[in-house]
Amino acid sequence: MEVDSKVDLSTQNPNSSEDNLAWVEKYRPKTLDELVSQDSIVTTLQKYIDLGGLPHLLFYGPPGTGKTSTILALAAQLYGKKYRNMVLELNASDDRGIDVVRDQIKNFAMTMSVFGSAFSAKNDSNTTAAKYKLIILDEADSMTQAAQAALRRIIEKYTKNVRFCIICNYASKIIPAIQSRCTKFRFTPLSIDQISDRVEYIIKTENVSISPDAVRGILEIAKGDMRRVLNVLQSCYLAYDNIDLDAVYDVTGQPKPSDLKLVFNSLLNDQFDSCYQYISNLKLVKGIALTDIITNLLPLITDCKLPGDSIIYLINSLASIEYRLANSSTDDIQLTAMIGYFKLAVEMAAQ
Ligand SMILES: Nc1ncnc2c1ncn2[C@@H]1O[C@H](COP(=O)(O)OP(=O)(O)OP(=O)(O)O)[C@@H](O)[C@H]1O
Ligand SMILES: [Mg+2]
Repeated sequence: MEVDSKVDLSTQNPNSSEDNLAWVEKYRPKTLDELVSQDSIVTTLQKYIDLGGLPHLLFYGPPGTGKTSTILALAAQLYGKKYRNMVLELNASDDRGIDVVRDQIKNFAMTMSVFGSAFSAKNDSNTTAAKYKLIILDEADSMTQAAQAALRRIIEKYTKNVRFCIICNYASKIIPAIQSRCTKFRFTPLSIDQISDRVEYIIKTENVSISPDAVRGILEIAKGDMRRVLNVLQSCYLAYDNIDLDAVYDVTGQPKPSDLKLVFNSLLNDQFDSCYQYISNLKLVKGIALTDIITNLLPLITDCKLPGDSIIYLINSLASIEYRLANSSTDDIQLTAMIGYFKLAVEMAAQ
């Protein structure tokens, strides 16, 4: 009910057609100045533009760190009203097999820009950079090897005319030949301090009633992923009038630190049966996934008083469980295995 009433209110506001947008889009940085963190990347890109040209770019790094936002803001600044003629954006929702590289990308790349000669005639350094067309290949991890191989010739052949910006999460998914044609920029997860100011600004603008420890909780859960911060904040806002820390954990389905401590104690001290009952029940009642328990147990394990050997054994074993869970094995069997590993680690420590 609460969710509906808030959506209705926002749609009735005639002043802001943006109100219906997901906050990740509404608050996507529109200029390079609005980007938090990644300062050295922005400064370097700005220098390239001031000097009159961009190299081919390869942006890589974890989700929600501003890769797409950076290139869109840069392109908007560079091309202004010419954006639609000068920029070709392709992302994972577009087909990017070898045919698209041969047809769409090649056609776009081979046509000279009408604006190019006019810009360069002015001899203005900023517009010199803008004489190149820009092809943005977002989420390039999903391009086939054959398509990437076809691309490397095109990058070379049309360098006079076009710049490429290739974006992915893992640089290793891009073939070495393309990597060596591009200048690489690694985007790092945003730190809590860097995200805080932007989040405070959004909380104020949207009039969100949220406690300081809930804000902190969101920032910790997001682990440097700004998209996640905004999505969680918006979900909490839609579901609760006043957001507290419990609301944040409920919405995200993440285990609370207090629950995690109880789980950890139970794993170390309880009998196998009661430990199994306790954790299965917690998973059921709070809807927590085993992967999230495992990931969040790590700091508790590294800080605990078990001897080094047991800690190494535990971390290694939990890594195997995480791997198996990622390959869709059964939560229940892996939970049993996890408890078993803890029992063995405690036995090792007692010897
Ligand atoms: N550095 C940043 N400064 C300000 N907002 C950011 C930043 N990084 C991400 N965001 C916010 O998070 C949202 C997602 O960012 P973006 O699409 O640029 O991430 P990405 O790095 O391309 O992630 P993915 O690898 O999943 O595509 C943006 O709409 C923006 O609101
Ligand atoms: Mg992106």
